[in-house]
Amino acid sequence: MRLTILGGGGFRVPLVYRALLADRGKGRVTHVTLHDLDPRRLDAIVKVLREQAAGYDDAPAVDVTTDLDEAVTGADFVFSAIRVGGLAGRATDERVALELGVLGQETVGAGGIAYGLRTIPVAVDIARRIARLAPDAWVINFTNPAGMVTEAMAAHLGDRVIGICDSPVGLGRRAAQALGVDPGRAWFDYAGLNHLGWLRAIRVDGVDVLPRLLDDESALTSFEEGKLFGADWLRTLGSLPNEYLHYYYFNREAVAGARSAEKTRGAFLLDQQSRFYERMEAPGTPPFATWDATRLEREVTYMAENREAVDAGERNSCDLDSGGYEKVALALMRAIALDERTTLILNVRGRGALKPLDDEAVVETNCHVDANGARPIIGEPLAGHAVGLVTAVKAVERDVIRAATTGDRAAALRAFALHPLVDSVAVARRLFDGYLADLPGLDYLKEPRV
Ligand code: G6P
Ligand code: MN
Repeated sequence: MRLTILGGGGFRVPLVYRALLADRGKGRVTHVTLHDLDPRRLDAIVKVLREQAAGYDDAPAVDVTTDLDEAVTGADFVFSAIRVGGLAGRATDERVALELGVLGQETVGAGGIAYGLRTIPVAVDIARRIARLAPDAWVINFTNPAGMVTEAMAAHLGDRVIGICDSPVGLGRRAAQALGVDPGRAWFDYAGLNHLGWLRAIRVDGVDVLPRLLDDESALTSFEEGKLFGADWLRTLGSLPNEYLHYYYFNREAVAGARSAEKTRGAFLLDQQSRFYERMEAPGTPPFATWDATRLEREVTYMAENREAVDAGERNSCDLDSGGYEKVALALMRAIALDERTTLILNVRGRGALKPLDDEAVVETNCHVDANGARPIIGEPLAGHAVGLVTAVKAVERDVIRAATTGDRAAALRAFALHPLVDSVAVARRLFDGYLADLPGLDYLKEPRV
């Protein structure tokens, strides 16, 4: 089986390769093609993979290319994990928004809109090429903002593109463990959009144990989301929100935290990652150890500003292993390739599973997966407060997709202005102008010069 990774020089590729090496089952991936625009990044990552493969006589073969058409031709699966504009773009997304007093996070609020406007034209081009050159391939989208990028790609790939994120499965695992329940035995009733979902029930042998968790103060505050949101708010809400909802429920604190931080997350990662890729060029740098130390530092500092803003303390050691998204990706790939039936929380077109959204809207929810792909499972309806947010944010995503695919400036402005975390049309106008000035990837939205 052949797997192509777009963004193949990206920092998380060794996590995927580690999962592939650990997969001993039949029908496993035997060939990996890494595609990246930057050969330097490919070189660095290949050094890490080579060290990971040492000692395995059947490690998946790895080849690299900077030619996109060549990369996708012949692929059975394509992982798309690109970052349009690089981490410099992410830092700009954050800076422009924070200067105007609103959130610039890469997937939530104004930053997510800017990142979507920059990414969707590229993701759609990739989708078109795959539809033409590898029409039978399955595409697994990791590229953020994952929900809207998956929806834009689905216009060309239909249900052959599936978006993934590790945060719902991480939330479920942490909540189950806090109760002393084996996550493998639990059914997690999770639904929403990517980075905008709620865990509404944890069923073990048919019994919902979430109320027990909500009643148990010390268990509830023992894990990341409990610390971030606080036991009182979780009890009041009656469900466990995805950690990214911290940007909504504690927006002032999150914005203040981001503004007072020495560096934004994007600026920090820009420095950290640049140093990593530079070091990898120097002779004598031990590839795996260097990569792993960088990875651990990235995990330790993940969402640090949010945690500091509400005194949530440090992350638990079990959350520093980064065993999340590559496991979901591998499970999904095996289920499809080998018809191993399973259920996973994925980003797919909702087909009515999440009312009141329409059939084409990509949602994040439990899905049955087998050789026919992923089909959303109709769960409990969303609570009223969740319907409100999900509907508002989906409308914003649709405007971003419209702007990114047609150049419609009004749609772009609407996206900024109607996002629940942008509190004024005047601010939205300044956001749009600020991003147009500082992000070359948005030139297509500039007014034509006369
Ligand atoms: C979580 C999110 C991903 C995100 C990742 C890394 O896993 O679900 O969407 O890409 O964190 O965040 P970072 O800030 O380290 O880039
Ligand atoms: Mn995610």
